[in-house]
Amino acid sequence: MSSAANPYVKLDSTALPKRRAHVFVLGNEKGGSGKTTTAMHLIIAFLRLGFRVGSIDLDSRQRSLTRYVENRRQTMRHENVALPQPHHIVIQKSPFPVAYDAEADERERFGTAMHKLTSENDFIIIDSPGNDTYLSRLAHANTQTIITPINDSFVDLDVLAQVDGQTLNITRPSIYSEMIWEQKLERAKQDGSSIEWIVMRNRLSNINAKNKLLMTQTVEALSRRIGFRVAPGFSERVIFRELFLQGLTVLDIMQAGNTSVSLSHVAARQEVRELLNSLRLPQVDERIATLRSAAREEEAAETNASSSSPSPAAGTADAPSVKPASANDASAAVVEEPEEQIRA
Ligand SMILES: Nc1ncnc2c1ncn2[C@@H]1O[C@H](COP(=O)(O)OP(=O)(O)OP(=O)(O)O)[C@@H](O)[C@H]1O
Ligand SMILES: [Mg+2]
Repeated sequence: MSSAANPYVKLDSTALPKRRAHVFVLGNEKGGSGKTTTAMHLIIAFLRLGFRVGSIDLDSRQRSLTRYVENRRQTMRHENVALPQPHHIVIQKSPFPVAYDAEADERERFGTAMHKLTSENDFIIIDSPGNDTYLSRLAHANTQTIITPINDSFVDLDVLAQVDGQTLNITRPSIYSEMIWEQKLERAKQDGSSIEWIVMRNRLSNINAKNKLLMTQTVEALSRRIGFRVAPGFSERVIFRELFLQGLTVLDIMQAGNTSVSLSHVAARQEVRELLNSLRLPQVDERIATLRSAAREEEAAETNASSSSPSPAAGTADAPSVKPASANDASAAVVEEPEEQIRA
């Protein structure tokens, strides 16, 4: 593909609307590192805070994020429950055989999707495939934040840089790191804005503590050398993968007042919150503060009402199974813990 030789992707940024959603791309040229899993958890976390979210699947072959979203719609229909949904778009790969035509076609497809989503949403989450494609480069060039999940192993670190096995010194950055560096330079040159790069370790395990410590040291050294920020990652947990067929995440099942919630679920939800906080988005902090104070007011009003009026004994048996939305319901899965825990 001709784009492999050319690291620059010039999208006509003047053609995009003025009001822009914050765009995240989940990227890593290695397959199976947790891009789709992280994308879905971020989408639901933002939705549950009441933000409008657009999602784009660039992996039109696997369509994992799309299947996740479709499964969620099916759960809504079958279970007759209301679940927040993203505005989802799949961008198909161009059918044109000549690279030049295919790239022009994919630029247009990408631009159209961004136009549709950017003025109507607060956040756009783009899931990219685990290999180098022109659509993936377009996304990397037109994002504010790149999030790269990496499996917690030295094999996967290779996507960031070559590391000397004896000394753990960094021999050279990877092609992927160089591509991001060049996109950052190009972006600064085009419109003076910046691209933030965040790396999160995924599937962390407590079994091999020595490997974990070595990884921590090496990732920190790499972050200084090739310019990314490290975010807290997700541990290896069944709950991060078992809800795919229902299109749900741990945030949804914690929401439902489910009695079979385990300690691992609580810990998983905390990991999602910590990732959210590490993104340093002022609008998210503000929203959490507003929802928390609304929830407090609602609780106070309920307490006052129940202490001043007799309990409606006959009414409780007929209570609807799906509670009406309230500040508490809408955000509990994301904000119910005390502030210091959320910010941990
Ligand atoms: N923290 C985790 N705990 C348990 N399983 C996980 C975790 N993160 C991801 N997985 C599982 O690992 C597999 C790969 O994850 P995912 O599909 O998110 O990766 P990907 O980077 O999107 O892959 P691809 O490059 O093929 O698109 C999936 O089966 C997913 O359910
Ligand atoms: Mg994927």
